[in-house]
Amino acid sequence: MTITGLKPDFEATLLIVKPDGIAKSLTGNILTRLSEAKLEIAAAKCLRVSRELAFEHYKHLKHKPFFDEIIDYLMGHYHPDRKKVLALVYAGANAISKVRELAGATNPEEADSCTIRGQFGRITTKGVYENVIHASSDRNEAEREIKLWFEPDEIIFDLFPTVTEKVTTQKKVWASVASKAN
Ligand code: PPS
Repeated sequence: MTITGLKPDFEATLLIVKPDGIAKSLTGNILTRLSEAKLEIAAAKCLRVSRELAFEHYKHLKHKPFFDEIIDYLMGHYHPDRKKVLALVYAGANAISKVRELAGATNPEEADSCTIRGQFGRITTKGVYENVIHASSDRNEAEREIKLWFEPDEIIFDLFPTVTEKVTTQKKVWASVASKAN
């Protein structure tokens, strides 16, 4: 990851509060724990995960036996009343390892009980890790994941080089008061 003009230890990392974390109302607890890392939140958004986004995010795992399950899990199919995630970018000195340390091991049964996954995660009867959060594993993955989940304008500073292109697409905008009255 090249973050121009910043100290060599400066990193950005993607953190996702997954549908089980949202369904169990753990967002506040998770963000409080992460604040111990003294990092800056550079971007945040709440979204429903499409199958395409879930596939792209986990594409390196497509040959794993649990691939279909983690796609359904990230899309919120196991938590239909809260079908969404909260995606954030944390930035600062050694952000990747600091967030991973607070997150704990991927397997919630192996995670230290003081970590977020150790405290709140579980393994389902189907063997899927419901480990509450996703955190980027290294600089390359962090860059790939941040670029996948966020547009440059959604992040408060330019983490990676950008170019300006003229695009003509349709987008939803707020209806004006006048058009509401009609
Ligand atoms: S590897 O090669 O399996 O260790 O891959 P890893 O990079 O650790 O990411 C695995 C992601 O799949 C989720 N997951 C599981 N992994 C292993 N075994 C089981 N049974 C399983 N179920 C789900 C795991 O939580 C990782 O996703 P994230 O979002 O990073 O937690």
